[in-house]
Amino acid sequence: MLFDPRPKTSRLELFDREKELTLLDRAAERGEPLVLVLGIRRIGKTSLLRSFLEEWRGIYIDMRGVSSLAELYSRISDGITSHLGKLRDIVKSIRGIRVLGAEVEIRWRGRDSISLVGLLEELNKHDKRIIIVFDEAQLIRPPISIEVKRAIAYAYDNLENITIVLSGSEIGLLREFIGTDNPDSPLYGRYALELLVERFTPQMSRDFLEKGFMEQGIRPSKDLIEKAVNIFDGIVGWLVYFGKSYIDGVRDFNRILDAVINLAAKELENLRPREKLVLKAIAEGASTWSSVRRYIEEKEGVTVPKSTLTRIIKKLEKLSIIQDYRFLDPIYHRAASRLRIK
Ligand SMILES: Nc1ncnc2c1ncn2[C@@H]1O[C@H](COP(=O)(O)OP(=O)(O)OP(=O)(O)O)[C@@H](O)[C@H]1O
Ligand SMILES: [Mg+2]
Repeated sequence: MLFDPRPKTSRLELFDREKELTLLDRAAERGEPLVLVLGIRRIGKTSLLRSFLEEWRGIYIDMRGVSSLAELYSRISDGITSHLGKLRDIVKSIRGIRVLGAEVEIRWRGRDSISLVGLLEELNKHDKRIIIVFDEAQLIRPPISIEVKRAIAYAYDNLENITIVLSGSEIGLLREFIGTDNPDSPLYGRYALELLVERFTPQMSRDFLEKGFMEQGIRPSKDLIEKAVNIFDGIVGWLVYFGKSYIDGVRDFNRILDAVINLAAKELENLRPREKLVLKAIAEGASTWSSVRRYIEEKEGVTVPKSTLTRIIKKLEKLSIIQDYRFLDPIYHRAASRLRIK
């Protein structure tokens, strides 16, 4: 079902993304060592990656919320478990891994344990391409990030059957995490193939919504579809939210829009007060560095040091919330206007 809010996991469920799947398939066939899949929140990265893996031997590792080594290995074991059909023969003989029926157990500390590097080395031995996906890789922090980066660099240099895919919605932070241009990073100087997942065109959004509603035997008015196409700006996660709410019986567009904006505002609430203030300034029309500064100083009665403001703007860009004083997602724009800053 197109309006299923969970990430899609198969190519049959996926709307379009033919070009992206072809690029990923080609990269895997060529044995590309490192691929970056970049895109703003809700643009469909996870769905693309999981559907891509359907046709390959691979492990999908979700790095959201991973803050300890125990969690890292538990996500890796989830990743292997969910692809066990294709991986069983390869992992069953690896020391440190036990296959228990439909699940796997990884011993990562103590006797007979296996490290991430060790696991990648074992996976590499089988002369079959294996894809390892780290989704939202930019979120991990030291010391786990160091372990992961070292493993990636090791695989890059030594393990020709492994393709690593890193994905993230905070594009600047992901680039920083990889650090291919940072001499202190283990991945310094490595080339990575990049794929930017783009928003749907208005025509694709229209087709997506019509197809989704058709699956449910519902035909909303053309006006309503056009409104959604315009407001959600090709961001598939919002289109799904809208479609799902509508088929669940919420027929008032403004109510759905309100819920969506509130959701985005909750996400922005996690930012620091000054970061929110900058977003509010931009949402209310400030479109240059000095107009943002003036807005903050006049409206809120606080002074912001020059370097602080520059740093905040850079950070908001790295988080892929804004670029060149514009919001990348129009829903975040609306949400930022609603922010209340203490
Ligand atoms: N090509 C697609 N066809 C159909 N549905 C899609 C497609 N891409 C994404 N979706 C749907 O859109 C929503 C968001 O997708 P997904 O979680 O894959 O995006 P994401 O970029 O990984 O988001 P986040 O940044 O929040 O992790 C989900 O409901 C998913 O099912
Ligand atoms: Mg995702």
